Amino acid sequence: MTIQESSRARSAEGDDSAASGLGALEAVVGPTRSVVVADVAQEIADLVRERPEAILGLATGGTMVELYAELVRLHRDEGLDLSRVTTFNLDEYLGLDEGDANTFRSFMEEHLFEPAELDRARTNFPDSTRAATDPLAASREYEDAIAAAGGIDLQLLGLGRNGHIGFNEPGSLRESRTRVLTLAARTREDATGTFGALADVPTAAITVGVATILEARRVCILAFGERKAEVVLRTVTGDVGPEVPSTFLRGHADAVLHVDTAAASQLFGR
Ligand code: GLP
Repeated sequence: MTIQESSRARSAEGDDSAASGLGALEAVVGPTRSVVVADVAQEIADLVRERPEAILGLATGGTMVELYAELVRLHRDEGLDLSRVTTFNLDEYLGLDEGDANTFRSFMEEHLFEPAELDRARTNFPDSTRAATDPLAASREYEDAIAAAGGIDLQLLGLGRNGHIGFNEPGSLRESRTRVLTLAARTREDATGTFGALADVPTAAITVGVATILEARRVCILAFGERKAEVVLRTVTGDVGPEVPSTFLRGHADAVLHVDTAAASQLFGR
């Protein structure tokens, strides 16, 4: 059972998303993280059962761990077959060795690809090795690969605390495409936990762009916990612009923000 509230109510009060002609971003608040995760996993399962060759846009980060665990459970216990889906991950660090435990490919292998038995030939990441020497070619190739696959059916997204989506850091334009960029200080600090020390966190990454994300036919954004409450508020009600790239999601016709009560704590009842 989820409590469903929509930020559309705010538009009726005359907030600036209505004034700017942008659609409001629907926010769905679940009582617990597990309930939210179960809902989103069910949506993915329904899509894949209907369309076994669905094209999924995948994200990494702590937010996704429980969701992927639920997909693995659906695969093991309920026969969800993910072997024919094609996946495109949002981003990858530059400068890590292939196979390094901190690459996003390693993350995906551990949490989803291996336990849910995806066909690795259908899993895609931006080529971070090539990006280090020829960033433009690596970026163009990834955009071309997504387009050649027919575009993303369902894009999963987490939120950086500074409003980044993928690695589209503050300053990223709505029109931005796959590219190499340097990581914001706060992003590197937030990644210190997984790397052990700030000095070990890469300084650059290759990420799909905001425009690439907005072209996905459906976008499911997830945010959990008190530490995401501020960025959730800014995403839904703040000024739309590059300062908080997640605000651009309000221009998407079919995007939903799934949050638990802690992440929604600044959103409603103000
Ligand atoms: C990372 C990823 C993003 C992710 C975000 C939040 O750096 N590039 O795709 O959404 O930061 O991470 P977490 O879920 O761990 O809070």
